[in-house]
Amino acid sequence: MTVLVTGGAGFIGGNFVLDWLAQAQAQAEPVVNLDALSYSGNLETLEAIKGDRRHHFVQGDIADRELVSRLLMQHTPRAVIHFAAESHVDRSIHGPEAFIQTNVVGTFGLLESVRGYWGDLRGPAREAFRFLHVSTDEVYGSLQAQESAFTEAHRYQPNSPYSASKAASDHLVRAYHHTYGLPVLITHCSNNYGPYHFPEKLIPLMIVNALAGKPLPVYGDGRQIRDWLYVKDHCSALCRVLEAGTPGEVYNIGGWNEKANIDIVHTLCDLLDQMRPRDDGQSYRRQITHVADRPGHDRRYAIDARKLHRDLGWRPAETFESGIRKTVRWYLDHPGWVQRVQSGAYRQWIDSQYGVSA
Ligand code: NAD
Ligand code: TYD
Repeated sequence: MTVLVTGGAGFIGGNFVLDWLAQAQAQAEPVVNLDALSYSGNLETLEAIKGDRRHHFVQGDIADRELVSRLLMQHTPRAVIHFAAESHVDRSIHGPEAFIQTNVVGTFGLLESVRGYWGDLRGPAREAFRFLHVSTDEVYGSLQAQESAFTEAHRYQPNSPYSASKAASDHLVRAYHHTYGLPVLITHCSNNYGPYHFPEKLIPLMIVNALAGKPLPVYGDGRQIRDWLYVKDHCSALCRVLEAGTPGEVYNIGGWNEKANIDIVHTLCDLLDQMRPRDDGQSYRRQITHVADRPGHDRRYAIDARKLHRDLGWRPAETFESGIRKTVRWYLDHPGWVQRVQSGAYRQWIDSQYGVSA
């Protein structure tokens, strides 16, 4: 048995592959990891499994149907877990095209390759096959303060080019189930945080800027709300959905942790004040700067994850307090990873370590 992971050198996919190989020790189920190594893909994240024969890394594009079909034929995976995407809202505002290319056209190409492969499977292998599409709560749009959290039945109302491209990919995945019977599972997760997070997103950016003495740029009034989940809880939820989810079903994944951005930034400053005080004894809060708001900024996301708990018995292991402390600790303990990501040196590192060019 093998699984094919796309985007497994990114933040969530990387954590997923590391956790999968750590937890599946007994079964030793291998992972084929297909990743284009875009700017957010980083093989240094996978350093701990370098040389592990159960990890087969392939640099390539999900839209490359010939490559994907060949990998499927060669490795005969029992499941595809699809993380690969352009994932940053601000980048989608500045340059939406890459989002359409990877998230929509790329997912379409991947679905076509998988449809061909699955169509040729017979008996138990065909029955057991799953395509798990990793999506986001952002496809549901923005909530007013008093509205109840997104359920799986919430209407789609994506507001950014990123969320629109993810919504388009969700619709394609759903249609492949409805039309061709492809056994798909779709998940919508809230904002993730944790180790190996590229420092362009709120939490890692604030930690690394704080430590570098740089401003902490809070968009607008900072009262926008996100629902935060520790990345390893997202990975455990995906494993549970893969194991026991019903094909064609949609599952929301969340941590019941709604927080305003400014409160997150205050929490990070306070933790850093304890764990790595500034040389001058002042609080990191001094570095907070309010900057212009993001265009079309969604005000609030909140996930109702009761279905996943009720049907599949999943619950997050971390509280926000435990997860955020672990995250700050991780960034304090991994200055080299951060430095190489920020300087771009991780790309040369990939070349020298793996002999592939990013
Ligand atoms: P990321 O940007 O850290 O990683 C994306 C990975 O995909 C990178 O390794 C990149 O090299 C790879 N990739 C990009 N284009 C590719 C292509 N055409 N072919 C093959 N590989 C390609 O993103 P992430 O935060 O790890 O997000 C992973 C998935 O989870 C995405 O689908 C995202 O929409 C979803 N998601 C993310 C969050 C979050 O908070 N980060 C929350 C919910 C859902
Ligand atoms: P982000 O991490 O980009 O995730 P998303 O936009 O997918 O939710 O941003 C999280 C929130 O933090 C969002 O409301 C935008 C805000 N934000 C800032 O205030 N300053 C920043 O520098 C960044 C990157 C984000």
